[in-house]
Amino acid sequence: MSAQIIDGKAVSQQCLNAVADAVAARRAASLRVPGLAVVLVGDDPASAVYVRNKNHACRQVGFESFSYELPADTSEAQLLDLIDELNDNPAVDGILVQLPLPAQINSQNILERIRPDKDVDGFHPYNVGRLAVRKPLLRPCTPKGIMTLLTAYGIDPKGQKVVIVGASNIVGRPLALEMMLAGATVTVCHRFTRNLAAEVAAADIVVAAVGKPKLICGDWIREGAVVVDVGINRLADGSLCGDVDFDAAKQRAAMITPVPGGVGPMTIAGLLENTLQAAQNRD
Ligand code: GUN
Repeated sequence: MSAQIIDGKAVSQQCLNAVADAVAARRAASLRVPGLAVVLVGDDPASAVYVRNKNHACRQVGFESFSYELPADTSEAQLLDLIDELNDNPAVDGILVQLPLPAQINSQNILERIRPDKDVDGFHPYNVGRLAVRKPLLRPCTPKGIMTLLTAYGIDPKGQKVVIVGASNIVGRPLALEMMLAGATVTVCHRFTRNLAAEVAAADIVVAAVGKPKLICGDWIREGAVVVDVGINRLADGSLCGDVDFDAAKQRAAMITPVPGGVGPMTIAGLLENTLQAAQNRD
């Protein structure tokens, strides 16, 4: 069997088109165009690419975009001052601080300074808590994008065994909450998991989000499973690969996301949807 490839780029484009239509309707009704502030600190090359893609997508849907590129030696106090300014700026509906931040800055202090109603990443404890009590407001972008992608392909997690490899605050943990909300039976694996291969082999849906190239071997995947690969790893030859051994896994899976062109574009779709929602909530 060779798996159907899940086209995140196409589904993301549909989401972007829907957001662009909503922005045009707001313009026509003389409502404010949504504004997103994206903050990049330092010169991490991968972060610079992600931020460029986010700013580009903003322009594509007609948002106002505010871009801040700060030097690597920016202090925590300086970044907190910028957050305060953006919190108070009425033209800014969403604030995104690209992670990771340089070591002298405590990321959690920054994330907790962002007003929860402008927290379009969904990382503020208020938004994490809303999701945990099944009353989500702004939902973390990558997990939200994954749920949208599964829906687009007619995959319903209800009653399915979902195995998530990786317990990060950005993907694994909030995705576990999303999957529980959707009625899945969820296992979250992490560095202390004893037999990762056996856990993965039991899954109807496997999600890999660890940032380790090809950690998940193809022969671990159950015949007919759905494989979602969140990893974006750059190899020594400059090429990109996921956390799953794609070529081997696609021989066993029913459906699989590629890297690039799978989950990555869906994160951006989730971000733009959240920014639109934040603007609508402030009308
Ligand atoms: N770094 C990696 N993924 C993300 C994300 O979704 N949001 C932010 N702000 N930083 C990230």
